[in-house]
Amino acid sequence: MATTQKTIKVSIKRQPNPQTPARTETFEIPYRPNMNVTSLLGEIAANPVTNTGDTTTAIAYDSNCLEEICGSCAMLINGKARMACSALVDKLEQPITLAPLSKFPIVRDLSVDRSVLFQNLKAVKAWVPIDGSYDLGPGPRQFPQIQEQRYPLSNCISCTICMEVCPQFNDSTNFVGAATIAQTKLFNMDPAGSVLKEERLRALAGDGGVQECGMAQNCVAACPKQLPLIEAISDVSRDVVIQQVKDLFAM
Ligand code: FES
Repeated sequence: MATTQKTIKVSIKRQPNPQTPARTETFEIPYRPNMNVTSLLGEIAANPVTNTGDTTTAIAYDSNCLEEICGSCAMLINGKARMACSALVDKLEQPITLAPLSKFPIVRDLSVDRSVLFQNLKAVKAWVPIDGSYDLGPGPRQFPQIQEQRYPLSNCISCTICMEVCPQFNDSTNFVGAATIAQTKLFNMDPAGSVLKEERLRALAGDGGVQECGMAQNCVAACPKQLPLIEAISDVSRDVVIQQVKDLFAM
């Protein structure tokens, strides 16, 4: 008696470049237990043939660590922004649909250009400034209470999911998004990084700044690393207002 092999059906939105209209290709992949979406894409790369038997090209997507650390594999999986490497096929409803994040310029297929996040991080100077590369000795002491508040914020993987799900992050605003605001708090709380605190707060006081958050709170629900984003936005909002008042009286 013939046995039918169990398969996984996956429909993928494809676009070879930003100028060409998008199309959908569907694949049927032999089932294996414990696959994630990244391994599904790997199977297609090994045998790029659609469910109608047409030979096609491998799907372009970003991926690196395969353990939800590098933040590169964010995409829309069954319509939800999440990481491909931690999305288990056994837990997904079929047919699985894959599409690129919708709020970033397309590069190819599931790969998008998320450099806006890095421009935003640059605008708020999300780093600890150091004077050269020579040995500066031990840094300033950091109290455990501060470490406890900073540690969750340091888990940001720059995946941009918080920006993708935010109604305020769109073509008509310059809103920086929750990740940048959270990193502002992280570096403002650093005993050495706080030297740039005023500059960071001023950068978030203008167009696209923290006041443009509409408190939809989608970011905190979608963040794969469960960052305390709402708390960070509230704290930075308060600090921005205090900085504005200080600047007013310093004029
Ligand atoms: S591959 Fe690094 S987070 Fe998914």
